[in-house]
Amino acid sequence: EKGGYDHFMLKEIYEQPNVIKDTYRGRLHANEGIIQMAGVEDNLEKFINAERIIIVACGTSWHAGLVAEYVIEEFSRIPVEVEYASEFRYRNPIISSKDVVIAISQSGETADTLAAIKLAKEKGAFVFGVCNVVGSSISRETHAGAYTHAGPEIGVASTKAFTTQITVLTMIALRLAKVKGTLSNSDFHRYLQELELIPEKVLEALSTNDIAKEIATKYKDASNCLYLGRGYNFPVALEGALKLKEISYIHAEGYPAAEMKHGPIALIDEKMPVIVIAPKQGHYDKVVSNIQEIKSRSGKIIAVVTKGDTQVKELADHVIEIPETSDALSPLITTIPLQLLSYHIAVLRDCNVDQPRNLAKSVTVE
Ligand code: F6R
Repeated sequence: EKGGYDHFMLKEIYEQPNVIKDTYRGRLHANEGIIQMAGVEDNLEKFINAERIIIVACGTSWHAGLVAEYVIEEFSRIPVEVEYASEFRYRNPIISSKDVVIAISQSGETADTLAAIKLAKEKGAFVFGVCNVVGSSISRETHAGAYTHAGPEIGVASTKAFTTQITVLTMIALRLAKVKGTLSNSDFHRYLQELELIPEKVLEALSTNDIAKEIATKYKDASNCLYLGRGYNFPVALEGALKLKEISYIHAEGYPAAEMKHGPIALIDEKMPVIVIAPKQGHYDKVVSNIQEIKSRSGKIIAVVTKGDTQVKELADHVIEIPETSDALSPLITTIPLQLLSYHIAVLRDCNVDQPRNLAKSVTVE
């Protein structure tokens, strides 16, 4: 049932090219310039008239929400807020019928997310679900939704659910941009084409497995790790750190790269591995200066870079090369080597990768 893989997590990491394709199949028609999702089409007015979109989720799904915040605001110019469902539900949030709430949940059973959407409904908001499990509580409790087509995710650490959530949310952002006219026609078409190429680029990114394993061997005994990224890749840094914590029990933190000098830089010494997401598109030069700051404090630099990069290669202790894509879609690619790195570190530390201690796949109690 693990399809020849040692663990469900690894199998699920490798399923990503296919499940991303499954998620956009029948919805994304790049050549025709069409994005069509029934749940969005039927409620297009609600989305475009929304004063705000509020995303509620927990854990990895919350990280997908952060990526969506950047993508939706950039493409469709609708203000987005992202909240931990657990905070939202207990803080008497300001919410009305002018708001659209998007709940993101792989299992569709997370207690706090479910409670958050019940509250949003009571206050009159339109509630849209992005769930993986068909017929789950959240999918039933929402007014409309779009499923991710990741298939069953057995490993407790979420991998393919994350990338398929980003795929759905990016398609929503593009659909809204199309109707609002907030992206130029040429950009809109370019993003559609680019999204269609993501599965093969994810496949290519999976070939970083060997280098990820090699790096894992060097850093498996680290007691702390820092993950840094900017822009679209800031949430990827958070997700990379969460993945490592969950399955290897190494303390890790994700930060927006520029925040490093507001605290975490104090932690950097020759024993601190710093994983920096530094693709060519995006805030490359800024990230390069962050890398220099780490280097001058003797931190160990593991950088995720675009294939053919030369500048970071000169500074970093290790580079992991990934294929180029546009900045906004890059989380779908940059996430892959970080998943593999966590996986190999956990395996080398003899951890129970698929069922880490103290964690449950569905958190049905608060
Ligand atoms: C992380 C992880 C958790 C879940 C969180 C939300 O790998 O699995 O952080 O992402 O419990 O779960 P769902 O998406 O089912 O609501």
